[in-house]
Amino acid sequence: MKIFVTRPIPQAGLDLLRNAYPEFKMNPEDRVLERHELLAAVKGLDGLLALLTDLIDGELLDAAGPQLKIVANHAVGFDNVDLKAATARGVLITNTPGVLTDATADHAWALLFAVARRIPESEQFLRAGKFQGWGPLMFLGGDVTGRTLGVVGAGRIGHHMALRSRGFNMRVLYADELVNAVLEKEIGARKVSFDELLRESDFVSLHVPLLPSTRHLINAASLRQMKPSAYLINTSRGPVVDEAALAEALRERVIAGAALDVFENEPAVHPGLLDLQNLVLTPHTASATIATRSNMATMAAKNLLAGLRGKRPQNLVNEEVWGKQRR
Ligand code: GLV
Repeated sequence: MKIFVTRPIPQAGLDLLRNAYPEFKMNPEDRVLERHELLAAVKGLDGLLALLTDLIDGELLDAAGPQLKIVANHAVGFDNVDLKAATARGVLITNTPGVLTDATADHAWALLFAVARRIPESEQFLRAGKFQGWGPLMFLGGDVTGRTLGVVGAGRIGHHMALRSRGFNMRVLYADELVNAVLEKEIGARKVSFDELLRESDFVSLHVPLLPSTRHLINAASLRQMKPSAYLINTSRGPVVDEAALAEALRERVIAGAALDVFENEPAVHPGLLDLQNLVLTPHTASATIATRSNMATMAAKNLLAGLRGKRPQNLVNEEVWGKQRR
């Protein structure tokens, strides 16, 4: 079996692959492969372990060849994969759901507090030697306890982000196509329209996948619907937010602040964002805990091995292909 891993991943995943296929190949450098390098590396593969920074489209699948059985994505999101192209070519696609839910929900809260209580900004002030003593007007931020949390997308991560509000006695609103009966029962969350959520929430936290319908869900118009005292948190996918519109809204104080872990054109960040003080930024690290990344690597490797052995991978996202491969 010819297997390729596009970048070093945690050891637990590599060990699983090595035990099964000692001759598997990996890009040894800790960097995203250039497109031409990736296209060359996939030639003749049976299985590919890819990252969210690798574009898996028809061109790449054709470069690999018709023997390619599976692409195991080392991420829960799979917007880097052209699912239609993979399904049309009978290639199994898998993701890593569940194992990163807690880490990502935790990170959304870390961002929420960081922006509301102005943690990075006040730390920079202190490190710069500007702290001259306690001041009654210094770094006043927003309250969290007792405020309204609006969760956009009440799937796995949104659900667990919302549950964590219990400790802060918050009113919780959510916007989703589906009713989340558990959230309603456990914390009295109320399903509302997206517009109502924007109008009512003190914190709007995004947990939707990137789809044509969610691209620029947060734009100039939706930002104007939010309270001037509200904060936006994004740990989902960058293009869900129109970064140019957000930069403008933050500069004009249309909203109080924002915290972003994901960006529209990663690794680029809209230049209008970088010098804003009412914005907290992390480099797409919401799932970056030692244990979570190890679990993601293990899950991706297990999915890959199952697909190569003709077993149904546990986290298959294009079920139709499984039917086809069995025929
Ligand atoms: C991270 O962004 C993931 O989708 O796993």
